[in-house]
Amino acid sequence: MSESPAPGLFLPAVGGLRGTLRVPGDKSVSHRSVLLGAISDGSVAVSGFLRSADTLATVAAVRALGVEVEEQGDGLLVHGSGWAGLREPENVIDVANAGTLIRLLPGLVASCPFLCILSGDVSIRRRPMARVLEPLAAMGAVVAGREANTLPPIAIRGGALQGITHRMTVASAQVKSCVLLAGLRAAGVTTVLEPAASRDHTERMIRYAGGRVERDGLADGSGAVRVWPVERLHMQALAVPGDFSSAAFFVVAALLVPGSHVSIENAGLNPTRTGLLPVLQRMGAAIQVEPEEVVGPEPAGRITARAGDLTAAEVTAAEVPNIIDELPLFLLAAARARGTSRLRGAAELRAKESDRLRAMADLLRALGVEVAEYPDGMDVIGKPAGWAGAGIRSQADHRIAMVGAIAGAASLQGVRVDDLGCIGVSYPGFVEAFSQLGGVCRAEAFSERPQAVRL
Ligand code: S3P
Repeated sequence: MSESPAPGLFLPAVGGLRGTLRVPGDKSVSHRSVLLGAISDGSVAVSGFLRSADTLATVAAVRALGVEVEEQGDGLLVHGSGWAGLREPENVIDVANAGTLIRLLPGLVASCPFLCILSGDVSIRRRPMARVLEPLAAMGAVVAGREANTLPPIAIRGGALQGITHRMTVASAQVKSCVLLAGLRAAGVTTVLEPAASRDHTERMIRYAGGRVERDGLADGSGAVRVWPVERLHMQALAVPGDFSSAAFFVVAALLVPGSHVSIENAGLNPTRTGLLPVLQRMGAAIQVEPEEVVGPEPAGRITARAGDLTAAEVTAAEVPNIIDELPLFLLAAARARGTSRLRGAAELRAKESDRLRAMADLLRALGVEVAEYPDGMDVIGKPAGWAGAGIRSQADHRIAMVGAIAGAASLQGVRVDDLGCIGVSYPGFVEAFSQLGGVCRAEAFSERPQAVRL
């Protein structure tokens, strides 16, 4: 690849990350708090709301639908008045980089008798959409999208909906949530069959708001999620816990940077999200979890991690849904473990903000780690002695950029990353939190060539 003229950042090796911190609110729960708040009867006070590029796009979207949202301290006040309070947006809704918004909003408006058109940035316009448009069409909405209804921009003209049974071939919380939101306004029961249990924030929040959702699960992890139509939803207050996916960067950083000891308070501990922890524990990681009080629909607690040696592990297809956003971090941890780690059944990673299997293969190879990339996963031959240095491209993907930063702190000679600006999608304040723990990040011209030792 050619040299980039971009300014770039240099993240040198550090002697240890230490301290206690809180991470910003959970992105998935923040999106849902605004979307479900918008169709609740009465005002919903959301505390701990994540103010990031993605979730602010959701606030702008419901405002475009006629819902008043007030800033209230570090939270929000969402003034919903049921589906009847939603109006036809005057313009195309710009979801920016937010995949969750472009998948969930169509379900929310599928019963509304107006036209809603959604588009977003260059990465969003590559994200597969047939997976939500097809079930909504089967329920009775009129849908359209670019390239034979497969890509954004997409359009939904809502109408009278009928409950359906929808079988997902891939476990996706976004698809499940879209169909469940539409099911709240459909005649009869709507069922989503999932091949494995995906994150259940939507189900928890619907129940919390007085709706009825049930899940029948089988021993193999698959299940049927049913939702019943509701007249009204009502939530007064909702607490968003810290984002486990943000906490996970510092958990893995603490494991990999020698001399580290890090605690994260008020981290979300929903078991459909924390699949990374048992995998790291299988690798020999020293991690402690102390549940705290549950406020609202989501559990939260303190996670503490200490540096230590890791051994290789395997992540199987059945485990993938509950670790989906943390798989790049698993691959980074694998790159320092003794032995060969394996990931399979994760083809979905290629349809995220970037092709994350390709991005991670490039990143790990840049660090001098041997990997074998497969269509649905990767083998990683760990280098317990550590990595030298590297120049890493974030691919404008927030999670790859943060993995690059952690890789730098845990390296021997530091890592250059071409752009950390994209981190604002999910974790504004990441660099400050990283610095608070002892991480170092300084502006420096980007280059993919290894740099001289600078400690
Ligand atoms: C999300 C679900 C996941 C995850 C994404 C957020 C959600 O996607 O990767 O970051 O909020 O529902 P899929 O469920 O589509 O895999």
